[in-house]
Amino acid sequence: MSTHRSSFLSPPARLELTHTLPRSASPISAAAPSSEVIPLQSVPELKKVAIIGAGGHVGLPLSLVIADSGFQVTGIDLNLQTIRTLENGSVPFVEDGAEHLLAKVLRTGSLKFTTSYESIAESDTVVLIIGTPVDANLNPRIDSLLDVVEQNMSRFHENQLIVLRSTVSPGTTELVKDLIEDLTGMTEGEDFFVVFAPERVLQTKAIEEIRGLPQLVGAFSEASFRRAEDFFSGFIDGQCIMLQPVESEIGKLITNMARYVSFALANEFYLIADAFGANMHRIVRACNQDYPRLDLPSPGPNVGGPCLYKDGYYLVDKLQFPDIITTSFKINESIPMYLLEKVRGLTDIKKAAILGMTFKPNCDDTRNSLSYKLRKHLRGMRAEIVEVDPYVPGAETWDRLAGADALFLMTPHREFRDLQGILAKIDNPNCVVVDMWDFWDENESLSHDGIYRAYQVTSGTAGNGSKTIPVQRHRRPQTSEEISGSGDTQGG
Ligand SMILES: NC(=O)c1ccc[n+]([C@@H]2O[C@H](COP(=O)([O-])OP(=O)(O)OC[C@H]3O[C@@H](n4cnc5c(N)ncnc54)[C@H](O)[C@@H]3O)[C@@H](O)[C@H]2O)c1
Repeated sequence: MSTHRSSFLSPPARLELTHTLPRSASPISAAAPSSEVIPLQSVPELKKVAIIGAGGHVGLPLSLVIADSGFQVTGIDLNLQTIRTLENGSVPFVEDGAEHLLAKVLRTGSLKFTTSYESIAESDTVVLIIGTPVDANLNPRIDSLLDVVEQNMSRFHENQLIVLRSTVSPGTTELVKDLIEDLTGMTEGEDFFVVFAPERVLQTKAIEEIRGLPQLVGAFSEASFRRAEDFFSGFIDGQCIMLQPVESEIGKLITNMARYVSFALANEFYLIADAFGANMHRIVRACNQDYPRLDLPSPGPNVGGPCLYKDGYYLVDKLQFPDIITTSFKINESIPMYLLEKVRGLTDIKKAAILGMTFKPNCDDTRNSLSYKLRKHLRGMRAEIVEVDPYVPGAETWDRLAGADALFLMTPHREFRDLQGILAKIDNPNCVVVDMWDFWDENESLSHDGIYRAYQVTSGTAGNGSKTIPVQRHRRPQTSEEISGSGDTQGG
């Protein structure tokens, strides 16, 4: 834990704290901060925190970590069922370490859950981290965020810090600031403080990551930045980097989009390599190996998830020519159909098995998973579909695999490691196996594109017209996390 934190929790009047503050609000000076010793006399303790959206995939880990760091946290969420589940000590989704921490903060009483917004009025800090989806026409939807702000106008008070943490369109923090100023008569930076500080953790590893990641704190003034820095230094070790709010909003979106576009590029490279009968995974591993100027991700069929999919629409909403981002959508979204067409060229699909319905491995989140796109296309072909996913209720149908003509590995969960065992359940030597992830070791010798027949696995022979080119072996990824993007994940 940082020295900041212990300083923050000590009586402020006796303290001097080394802050990393920019000389001005410009991003250049913020990126190259100077250290100044600033007395803390004027900074009050911010002990009571209200977190709106506390039952969510990122709101919950944040609430747990803050409550475990000496704050009194009220976790507000509209979903009563989620609240009840949490109060009973259960975490409604997969998140490493969450149950343990939940038990601890429930025991100490430092985290309480409610559906009521009342505690905002007595909180020093309010964090907003509710969902910000896109609508059916892919338009960003920040209306519920604005609704929460409007509904709680009478509860916002002087000297309060409001931290927007949901992912939002550029300009939203300014909108929120103006709204509060207009409706309360308070002035931001003097009477109350608003910052945009996006969440950038990796779902399932959030608790591990929160404390260490740097915070992109978008603040209108140094006063607001300083208030936010004091708050964050109470529970993180990472640095607070000052930006303007709109810069921080864009910073969050491009953090995700840079990954999404890089996965699209990897997938385009896969399509090119496939056209030449070459194995893209081997090429990526060889090119990256010990070469300082390249870090290509591996291709994969399931680039989705709640963030990577929709954040691009937040970024390009008001622009005319965001071609690289929009083209990336086309590439990533078309991969399931590309694979399906390849399989149809090899067999008549009467029964298909989809392994993995979530958007990333070893997790239970199905939001914007391309497995559902594949399922839709298979339905359109009137194929019988078997979904297998040990993390998704109702989808653990190992017993129905027998006789499948095609096996699509959409999510490389660790439970799918044993290809021979899966093929034994399928019991159809002609079944076409599709492993664009390069998850199964058998791939390397059987085909360049990750598509081969079940009998080749047992006999170890190359077939289906694919060229197998002997090359020097490079280190293959060992875990499903490594496979889905160089130790990272293709979802977000
Ligand atoms: N999931 C991620 O990995 C991730 C990572 C970084 C940032 N984000 C961003 O964080 C935000 C939240 O994402 P999430 O995945 O946790 O969403 P989520 O849907 O899992 O959680 C949102 C929570 O907010 C609650 N909620 C919705 N409206 C509310 C309201 N008016 N008042 C109180 N509670 C309300 C919901 O019941 C839900 O529990 C989004 O803006 C998202 O883009 C998500």
